[in-house]
Amino acid sequence: MNLRVTAAAHPNLALVKYWGNADESLNIPVNSSLSVNLSAARTTTSVVFVPGQRRDEVTIDGHAARGEAYDRVVRHLDRVRRLAGINHRAVVESDNDFPASAGIASSASAFAALSLAASKAAGLSLDERQLSILARKGSGSACRSVPGGFVEWVAGSGDDSSYGRQVAPPSHWDLGITTVILDERPKVVSSAEGHRAARTSPFYQARLKTLPQTLEVVRQALLARDFRALGQAVEREAVSMHVVTMTSYLEEHPWLSGIYYWQPETCALIHAVQAWRRQGLEVYFTIDAGHNVHLLCQDECRAELEWQLDQVLPGPGGKYLVSRPGRGVWIVEAQERKAP
Ligand code: DP6
Repeated sequence: MNLRVTAAAHPNLALVKYWGNADESLNIPVNSSLSVNLSAARTTTSVVFVPGQRRDEVTIDGHAARGEAYDRVVRHLDRVRRLAGINHRAVVESDNDFPASAGIASSASAFAALSLAASKAAGLSLDERQLSILARKGSGSACRSVPGGFVEWVAGSGDDSSYGRQVAPPSHWDLGITTVILDERPKVVSSAEGHRAARTSPFYQARLKTLPQTLEVVRQALLARDFRALGQAVEREAVSMHVVTMTSYLEEHPWLSGIYYWQPETCALIHAVQAWRRQGLEVYFTIDAGHNVHLLCQDECRAELEWQLDQVLPGPGGKYLVSRPGRGVWIVEAQERKAP
């Protein structure tokens, strides 16, 4: 004990989306998904287990965590304590280098970094698959931030067979991913509620039927570095997920006729992307459970894309992050902590 371990991880962007759980308590998804880690954003998390301490202390971005955010971290620490056979409480400090409002799911990088830092600090040496399984239980998509580069989350049929595995390393394809921050308001319906609602959509089963083929097309386009095939498949796949969200409902929110993650600015950018493509600028969009838009483009189009974005985004220079495929979760440092 008394080893303070710091780990870091990138969030990931789903090219084929995870939407709907087969087992909600374990975050086992109905469908397999595929993502790329985003190099421009990271979460860095330190963990030390302290014998004799009475409760877990959790700080996120410099503030003591409370409520569900705190409970979620404690439940994850409990998983690590159970695995390691220890009982000590921990001190956890976690920092994101990207704004919470960026619309990038920080829970993926947060639970990937927490899984590695906490398991090492507890004296465990988990391999990549075990670490991915652990991260998945904290936040489903976190299992995809454990390996590097392009990662498939194999849905599997149970706890041990549902995890993220690398399809290609970051060096395979220097794809540019521009995350456009359109609206800083938090989303009204969480991903957890969205997963639960998915089955109520009359289009959910139709989406599930198309997914094995979509996954194959995306995987092959990726391996062949076929940008057009990748972009077309990824864009249609994102729209398919949002058609499901917009046509699903939750009994507990009777005011909600459908879950509309898109804001007017999101739709405006979708139209702009299609217009740019008609003019020859090859850019494709994808959107996770939120209003911000991620744009895929290759280097030869980058300058033109940034010029176009500056025309349509409000404010000087607009707001966006430019990522490349990022590495998997890593240890930043491990230090013996001096007894107080
Ligand atoms: C639409 O349940 O992993 O981004 O815990 O909010 O990060 P958070 O979400 P999670 O669902 C992610 C849903 C998605 C698609 C995806 O990442 O595959």
